[in-house]
Amino acid sequence: HDLTAANTLGLGCRAERFVAPDNAAELGGALSLAREAGWPTLVLGGGSNLILPAFQPGLVIRMAMNDWWLEETGDGSVRVHAEAGVVWHELVMALAARGLWGLENLALIPGHCGAAPIQNIGAYGVELAERLEAVHLVHLDDGREAVLGPDECAFGYRDSVFKRALAGRVAITRLVLRVSRTAEPRLGYGDLASRVGETPTPLEVAEAVCAVRREKLPDPAVLGNAGSFFKNPVVSSECAASLREAYPDMPSFPLADGRTKLAAGWLIDRCGLKGWRDGPFGVHDRQALVLVHHGGGDAPGLLAFAARVAETVERRFGVTLEREPRLAAE
Ligand code: FAD
Ligand code: EPU
Repeated sequence: HDLTAANTLGLGCRAERFVAPDNAAELGGALSLAREAGWPTLVLGGGSNLILPAFQPGLVIRMAMNDWWLEETGDGSVRVHAEAGVVWHELVMALAARGLWGLENLALIPGHCGAAPIQNIGAYGVELAERLEAVHLVHLDDGREAVLGPDECAFGYRDSVFKRALAGRVAITRLVLRVSRTAEPRLGYGDLASRVGETPTPLEVAEAVCAVRREKLPDPAVLGNAGSFFKNPVVSSECAASLREAYPDMPSFPLADGRTKLAAGWLIDRCGLKGWRDGPFGVHDRQALVLVHHGGGDAPGLLAFAARVAETVERRFGVTLEREPRLAAE
């Protein structure tokens, strides 16, 4: 099965076996078959945060169950149940259009609901974790079903238990999210506040977020990419202070734990790498944190290109960059 069109980087990939179950029984059947045969199993969503090899052995399961529904809680908030295959952006826009607050800042993030907890998606000052009540999942090794509460998910910045103890070991089947009928605009990030009216609706905020994103992020349908290729590095306040002395215009964000988050895009940009291209890969010319694939490249080539970017930043600033998109084997 050809997965080239199923990953937003557009890397050529052939899967040995592929299924797209759209109900629990089909998923269970595929998992028990894989267990009996001993096939390595990769769970796939929209392929927007994944670096695929040319050949993916075993079984690839694209979660295709895609219903979502609302449940009134009686306290003014609304529970959203969303199956793994629901397209994240479509859910966000549907909720915003209904006047429900909470996820509008996360508009236009590609991918499916099932993957959203993996790296605790975040943008424009909001993270999924703030709105997540439960994650329904199936363990790949024995088919056992479980429901995790937010405390069990170990959410952090672009981090969760699904990238650590449970990495590659579960299929997330459904999310339970909480949204609100009460106006709760979060407009503190960048120039978001100036792009909406005094008393915006969630739909207005979502549309403003989409507009900002379209200005700098490449559309994967046009140019292969996986969004930010590196996480924003978190450094000690001393390290941040000494960098700020040398580079007074360097953006930095103090965190609650006393450390400081730097902007990887700014660091890469400052190295003069924005718009740099070498063969199939390049640094996006409007957002240096996004690496782009012009076609004809493969995963080792991308990782080598990314390593050169990271080494340049390390040499210049002494700051280590960590990859954000997942490798199929992780
Ligand atoms: P995939 O790429 O299919 O999978 C990602 C990882 O999750 C893989 O390890 C996969 O095995 C695993 N996985 C997927 N589904 C399941 C499941 N049901 N159960 C268990 N494991 C699963 N991210 C942000 O946080 N903020 C942003 O602002 C943002 N902007 C982006 C902009 C662009 C243009 C692009 C291309 C990406 C951006 N991303 C952003 C990254 C990406 O959209 C998110 O990480 C998204 O959640 C990935 O979803 P997906 O369905 O495409 O996951
Ligand atoms: N910057 C530059 N040059 C660049 C890029 C950025 O100077 O080429 C500066 C900007 O001017 C700004 C700062 O760096 O001062 C931060 O830039 P931006 O607001 O574009 O956000 P980011 O830190 O680069 C993060 C997330 C994005 C998310 C945006 C908005 C990470 C790794 N990335 O990017 O998430 O959409 O904030 O919240 O945290 C993703 O994860 O794939 C992703 C796109």
